Amino acid sequence: MTVDTTVTVRVPAKVNLQLAVGPAREDGFHDLVNVFHAVSLFDEVTVREAGPRSGRPDGSTSPGGGTLLAELTANGRSVSHLSRVPLDASNLAAGAADLLGRETGRGRPVRIHLEKRIPVAGGMAGGSADAAAALVACDRLWATGLPREDLLRLAAVLGSDVAFPLVGGTAVGRGRGEILEPMTSPGRYRWVFALSPHGLSTGAVFAEYDRLRPDAPAPELSAALRDALAAADPAALGRALTNDLQEAALSLLPELERTLRTGASAGALGALVSGSGPTCAFLVGGGSEEASVVAEREAAVVASLEASGLCEQIVRADGDVPGTVFV
Ligand code: C5P
Repeated sequence: MTVDTTVTVRVPAKVNLQLAVGPAREDGFHDLVNVFHAVSLFDEVTVREAGPRSGRPDGSTSPGGGTLLAELTANGRSVSHLSRVPLDASNLAAGAADLLGRETGRGRPVRIHLEKRIPVAGGMAGGSADAAAALVACDRLWATGLPREDLLRLAAVLGSDVAFPLVGGTAVGRGRGEILEPMTSPGRYRWVFALSPHGLSTGAVFAEYDRLRPDAPAPELSAALRDALAAADPAALGRALTNDLQEAALSLLPELERTLRTGASAGALGALVSGSGPTCAFLVGGGSEEASVVAEREAAVVASLEASGLCEQIVRADGDVPGTVFV
């Protein structure tokens, strides 16, 4: 048997097609109905054996008791706000390696390299995606061979959005968002994402939501969204996109409203803030639509967003796509 000394995993970003948020729970989290949709914006996470003398550059110890060390590096060729990526023990990818090592007793020092393409602090679960990828990469590197249910359970311990990138496709997350159920979605869609020069903290957006919506009802899956996905109807999907956190994100970053209006006026079928923001997502077509119709709409939306001067970067992607894959 050959033993891998380097493992690379590619992992997708997500956009939320519906994010319904209930009232704050006793534990501070919120019950969600969170429809995740994986899109073709990928990070690549590489883990390699670090050797016995290696340690964390900042000298910190592992939450597991100092036995397991994860050193992080990241490139930033296409992500100008890469400085927001923590390269110490607070990075969720390091936490993933630590947790897997502790759970299995097979952890060894690793170097983790993040090749970032997913917007940082953008509401597209880039940090969660990296943690999911680090989990499956270390599982392979250490030949721990954990069953999928165990990997999903560990992912849910790491964060509310960490389990989904292991699964990919389109799925509804309940509870904190970590209890996943795949959704029927035969269509393929084209998306434009407007990246903001600013970041938003997920916790701050939820806190603003609590302030604005102290009497939030229990979240429920949108029947209109479920039917639009099942019918692969892009116009109906565009109309069914909803995000309860959008009002809170706009309250913290009012310029996002102009970004949304710009894309919508240019012909997008749907426009919403992705997750807790500040990335704005525009559905520009898909399903059985002619490719030329989609391309024309996409070009118009991109041109308007570019002309607005509101976006740091504009990226295009398809969805849905599968979850983590080894490369
Ligand atoms: O689970 P995760 O670490 O991604 O959550 C980040 C923050 O988002 C939490 O600290 C909490 O403030 C908020 N959150 C929430 N309810 C959820 C998920 C996240 O309030 N279901």
